[in-house]
Amino acid sequence: MTTPLIIAIDGPAASGKSTLGFRLAEALGYLYFDTGLMYRAITWLTLERQVGIHDEAAITRLAEEVPIDVSAPSLQDGRVCDVVIAGRDITWEIRKPEVESNVSAVSAYAGVRQALSLQQRRIGLRGRVVMVGRDIGTVVLPEADLKIYLDASPEERAKRRYEEILGRGGHANFDDILVKVIERDRIDSTRAVAPLKPAPDAFILDSDRLDADTVFEKAYDLCKA
Ligand code: DC
Repeated sequence: MTTPLIIAIDGPAASGKSTLGFRLAEALGYLYFDTGLMYRAITWLTLERQVGIHDEAAITRLAEEVPIDVSAPSLQDGRVCDVVIAGRDITWEIRKPEVESNVSAVSAYAGVRQALSLQQRRIGLRGRVVMVGRDIGTVVLPEADLKIYLDASPEERAKRRYEEILGRGGHANFDDILVKVIERDRIDSTRAVAPLKPAPDAFILDSDRLDADTVFEKAYDLCKA
C-alpha cells in the first residue's frame, strides 16, 4: 500500500476543490498547486494591459512569455500563497469580479491552455503534489495516481460563494451569483479544448450534502486505500 504521489482534483467552480486540495496537501506534506490561479493571473494581466479579451493571439503571447510566480505566503492576510506576475503581487486582485467574469473566456483559448498546461505538467511530474483544476486528471496529468472529481449542484455552490462573500463583510446577491456559476459551468464544460469533465478513472465525490470535514475524510481514505 503506497500513498499516491500525484493527486489530481478537478471539478466545477466553487465545488470546494481548493479547500480539499489544500487540506490534503497539508496532511500528506505535499505541494498544493491551484492551477486556476494561473488562468486568473493571465486574465488579470490581459485586463491590466488593456489587451482585448477577444485577442486570442495577444493573450496567448502573454501566457507564453510572462512568468507567473507562485510562492509561500509572505503576508498573513488569509492567503495560502503569493501570486506575482510582472513584478506585481496580485494575490487578491485575481479574485475580483472583473477577473471572475472574464477568466472563462481566457481559459478557453487553446494557446493559453497549452502554455499553462506545460508548466503545470512539469511541476506535477515532480510528484508529492496535489494539483487542483478542471483538466488535471484528463489532460495535464492523465497519469495521476489518484483522481478525484469534486462535484456539487449549482445552487449549493452559489450558496457557498454567497456566504463566503458575506463572511468577508462584502455585499452579494444570491441570484446573480447563481447565474454566474451556471454560465461559468457552461463555458468550462462546452469549450473545445480540455472541457471540464471527470476522467474515466476519477472517483466522483458529490459534496452537496457533505461538509468540508467529511469530504476531506473521504478523500484522505482514498489516498490511504
Ligand atoms: O478554479 P478557479 O475558479 O480559480 O478557476 C478559474 C477559471 O480557470 C475557471 O473559469 C476555469 C479555468 N480553469 C481551467 O480552465 N483549467 C484549470 N485547470 C483550472 C482553471
